[in-house]
Amino acid sequence: MAGILDQLEPLKQAALADLKGAPDPAGLEQAKGNWLGANGKFTALMKQLGTLPREEKPVAGKAINAAKTELETALAERRAELELKAALPTEPTDFTLPGRRRTLGKLHPLTQVTEDIVRSFRKIGFAVVDGPEVEDEYHCFDALNTPADHPARDMQDTFYLQNSEAESKIASSKPETPKAGSSGLLLRTHTSSVQIRVMAKQQPPVRIIVPGRVYRRDNADATHNPTFHQVEGLYVDRNVTVGDLKGTVEFVFKELMGSETRIRFRPHYFSYTEPSFEIDFSSALTRKMGKEWLEIAGCGMVHPQVFENVGYDPEIWTGWAFGFGIERIAMIRYGINDIRLFYENDVRFLRQF
Ligand code: DAH
Repeated sequence: MAGILDQLEPLKQAALADLKGAPDPAGLEQAKGNWLGANGKFTALMKQLGTLPREEKPVAGKAINAAKTELETALAERRAELELKAALPTEPTDFTLPGRRRTLGKLHPLTQVTEDIVRSFRKIGFAVVDGPEVEDEYHCFDALNTPADHPARDMQDTFYLQNSEAESKIASSKPETPKAGSSGLLLRTHTSSVQIRVMAKQQPPVRIIVPGRVYRRDNADATHNPTFHQVEGLYVDRNVTVGDLKGTVEFVFKELMGSETRIRFRPHYFSYTEPSFEIDFSSALTRKMGKEWLEIAGCGMVHPQVFENVGYDPEIWTGWAFGFGIERIAMIRYGINDIRLFYENDVRFLRQF
């Protein structure tokens, strides 16, 4: 027995040195095999235990087991050390390197243009109002002096909805005496419907703008999309004139398109205004597109019949209204030649604004 115990300590020391000094995982596995494997030197010593007389086995066995535990602990520790070393970067960290940039999100160009328009109108006392995109025929057409058989409806064909829960909800906000054929639900073709909603609820003076999404049964091409955006404006008070309208539009377009912007009114027809005009504007932007004047909006003095429809006395109240497309302004402003780019959500496009 003295033989075994004498061998134990130096063998253990040599094994520990081997395990702790293993340079890498492969070396460690090899050292483990050399000492603790089936043919390892430490295993060989353990096998000698069986040759000892019975009374010597407990003492020798205990010593050998303690040594084995020590070797296994050393093995596990070294393995953890080597794994950590492998996980760390081999090159030292360079703290002078520039940081990683996070890409910042941006507002969609249509949102930017809408916000600019809203900001300009706020400066001159207009409030922003919202209205439903699922509208009824009454607010979208009839109340705007465009009855079912009116030819102007052809130009604003849209998507009609089946009877639904939404219908009864919207219908219940209608005035007591809706016009005939006015109950159908549709996706609104213009923001003009909100003029009616606001006037039906509120007494003059009214000074509002309505940015929002509108729908038409149009096929998509470079200048059309079944969904697009408009801004509506409405001003009602005593003694309101076309001069007020022109001054207001000029102020806002100068803010939007540059201070040298000029505007002109051309006679036109809308069923809810009389007289009615189309607005053209001229600026460095239109000249860049090879044109002196570009058509940009529709407007006019609110038709007396519209006032009657909402319960305003046309002998007392006067007003004007206008509507224009946000996409059109954004396209002119940024030189975009295809409206569909706005809806594709390609970040290479959106990043540019
Ligand atoms: N609603 C018209 C359109 O979608 C635009 C418009 C024209 C609005 C004249 C108005 C207006 O308020 O007075 O084409």
